[in-house]
Amino acid sequence: MSAPEILSTGSCVPTQVVTNEMLAQRVDTSDEWVFSRTGIHSRRHCSGGENGVAMAAQAARQALERAGVKPEEVGVCLVATFTPDFASPSTACLLQRELGLLEDTICFDLNAACAGFVYALHTAHSLLSGASRPYALVLGCEVISRVLDMDDRSTCVLFGDGAGAVLVRRREDACWHTVFGSRGDDMSIRVQGPGPEKAAVHMEGQAVFRFAVEVAEKSVRQLLEQEGIGIGDLDWIVCHQANARITEFLAKRLRADASLFYQNIDHCGNTSAASIPLALDELQRAGGLRKGMRVLLVGFGGGLTWAGALLRW
Ligand SMILES: CC(C)(COP(=O)(O)OP(=O)(O)OC[C@H]1O[C@@H](n2cnc3c(N)ncnc32)[C@H](O)[C@@H]1OP(=O)(O)O)[C@@H](O)C(=O)NCCC(=O)NCCS
Repeated sequence: MSAPEILSTGSCVPTQVVTNEMLAQRVDTSDEWVFSRTGIHSRRHCSGGENGVAMAAQAARQALERAGVKPEEVGVCLVATFTPDFASPSTACLLQRELGLLEDTICFDLNAACAGFVYALHTAHSLLSGASRPYALVLGCEVISRVLDMDDRSTCVLFGDGAGAVLVRRREDACWHTVFGSRGDDMSIRVQGPGPEKAAVHMEGQAVFRFAVEVAEKSVRQLLEQEGIGIGDLDWIVCHQANARITEFLAKRLRADASLFYQNIDHCGNTSAASIPLALDELQRAGGLRKGMRVLLVGFGGGLTWAGALLRW
């Protein structure tokens, strides 16, 4: 029996705010169309010298400072991302350099698209049992603007950039529950890899919508059953911020109050693996998270892949 204890959070978003009105100057869209279908008003996109490693470093520094933990006490550093600055070195290794983490720190990136943060949290927790030091930095960090086709109105309005971090310690006297799943035969979200074709996100929006609601509902129900509690016993559900309507559908299916679901999609857009830790950091800074609260995380996206976790704050 053991569980990850999240000790602190941190986040960083780029300075440039991209509103729906700004996008409407380039493609045939409107604030009304985008907001009514997604809940998004604006998102942030990297500009100038901004990049993933710099955002990740700022988010990680905040998490370390807020917990009063020094970089040399960190044993594991994982970054969930599908849009790293470099295919290699990993963002985690570049973060090691930026933060001055010790040489025997376990550092790597993992890609489970929008479910990546929960995969990274689970992996970091497992690795901590054999690590040299007791703390893990777990991040989601994305620069999705670098793979967007800004002339494709069906995808360019959906995504934003950002980084979120948590600092985790392994607790042996607690337990948590997780669920994971993948459907590798379904390519309804694709991002073109390196090659002659222009990098771009391709998505069959309605199929992805149905998938997201289905697996998020299933994950929440499985986690509640594993813990032996009802939906009313939860303090927060923090879903991957893909679309406010996905969350609304999910709340209806679970017969849950919409206020149980933390949402920040209106000003962040879909930041893939960064969305859950970004939301946790906002929630923490707003004073919404207190020790002992039951928090359920659920991510879903490209792969297709999904992951959920039920933990105590
Ligand atoms: C993407 C999404 C908002 C599209 O909404 P939709 O109601 O399904 O829209 P459709 O794709 O069926 O397109 C309907 C029309 O709107 C148009 N349209 C698409 N994007 C538009 C935009 N930004 N502005 C205006 N019109 C747009 C389409 O071209 C289409 O026009 P047509 O009927 O003339 O061909 C919706 O499918 C969705 O939210 N899907 C889930 C996406 C998601 O969250 N993915 C990430 C999961 S990790």
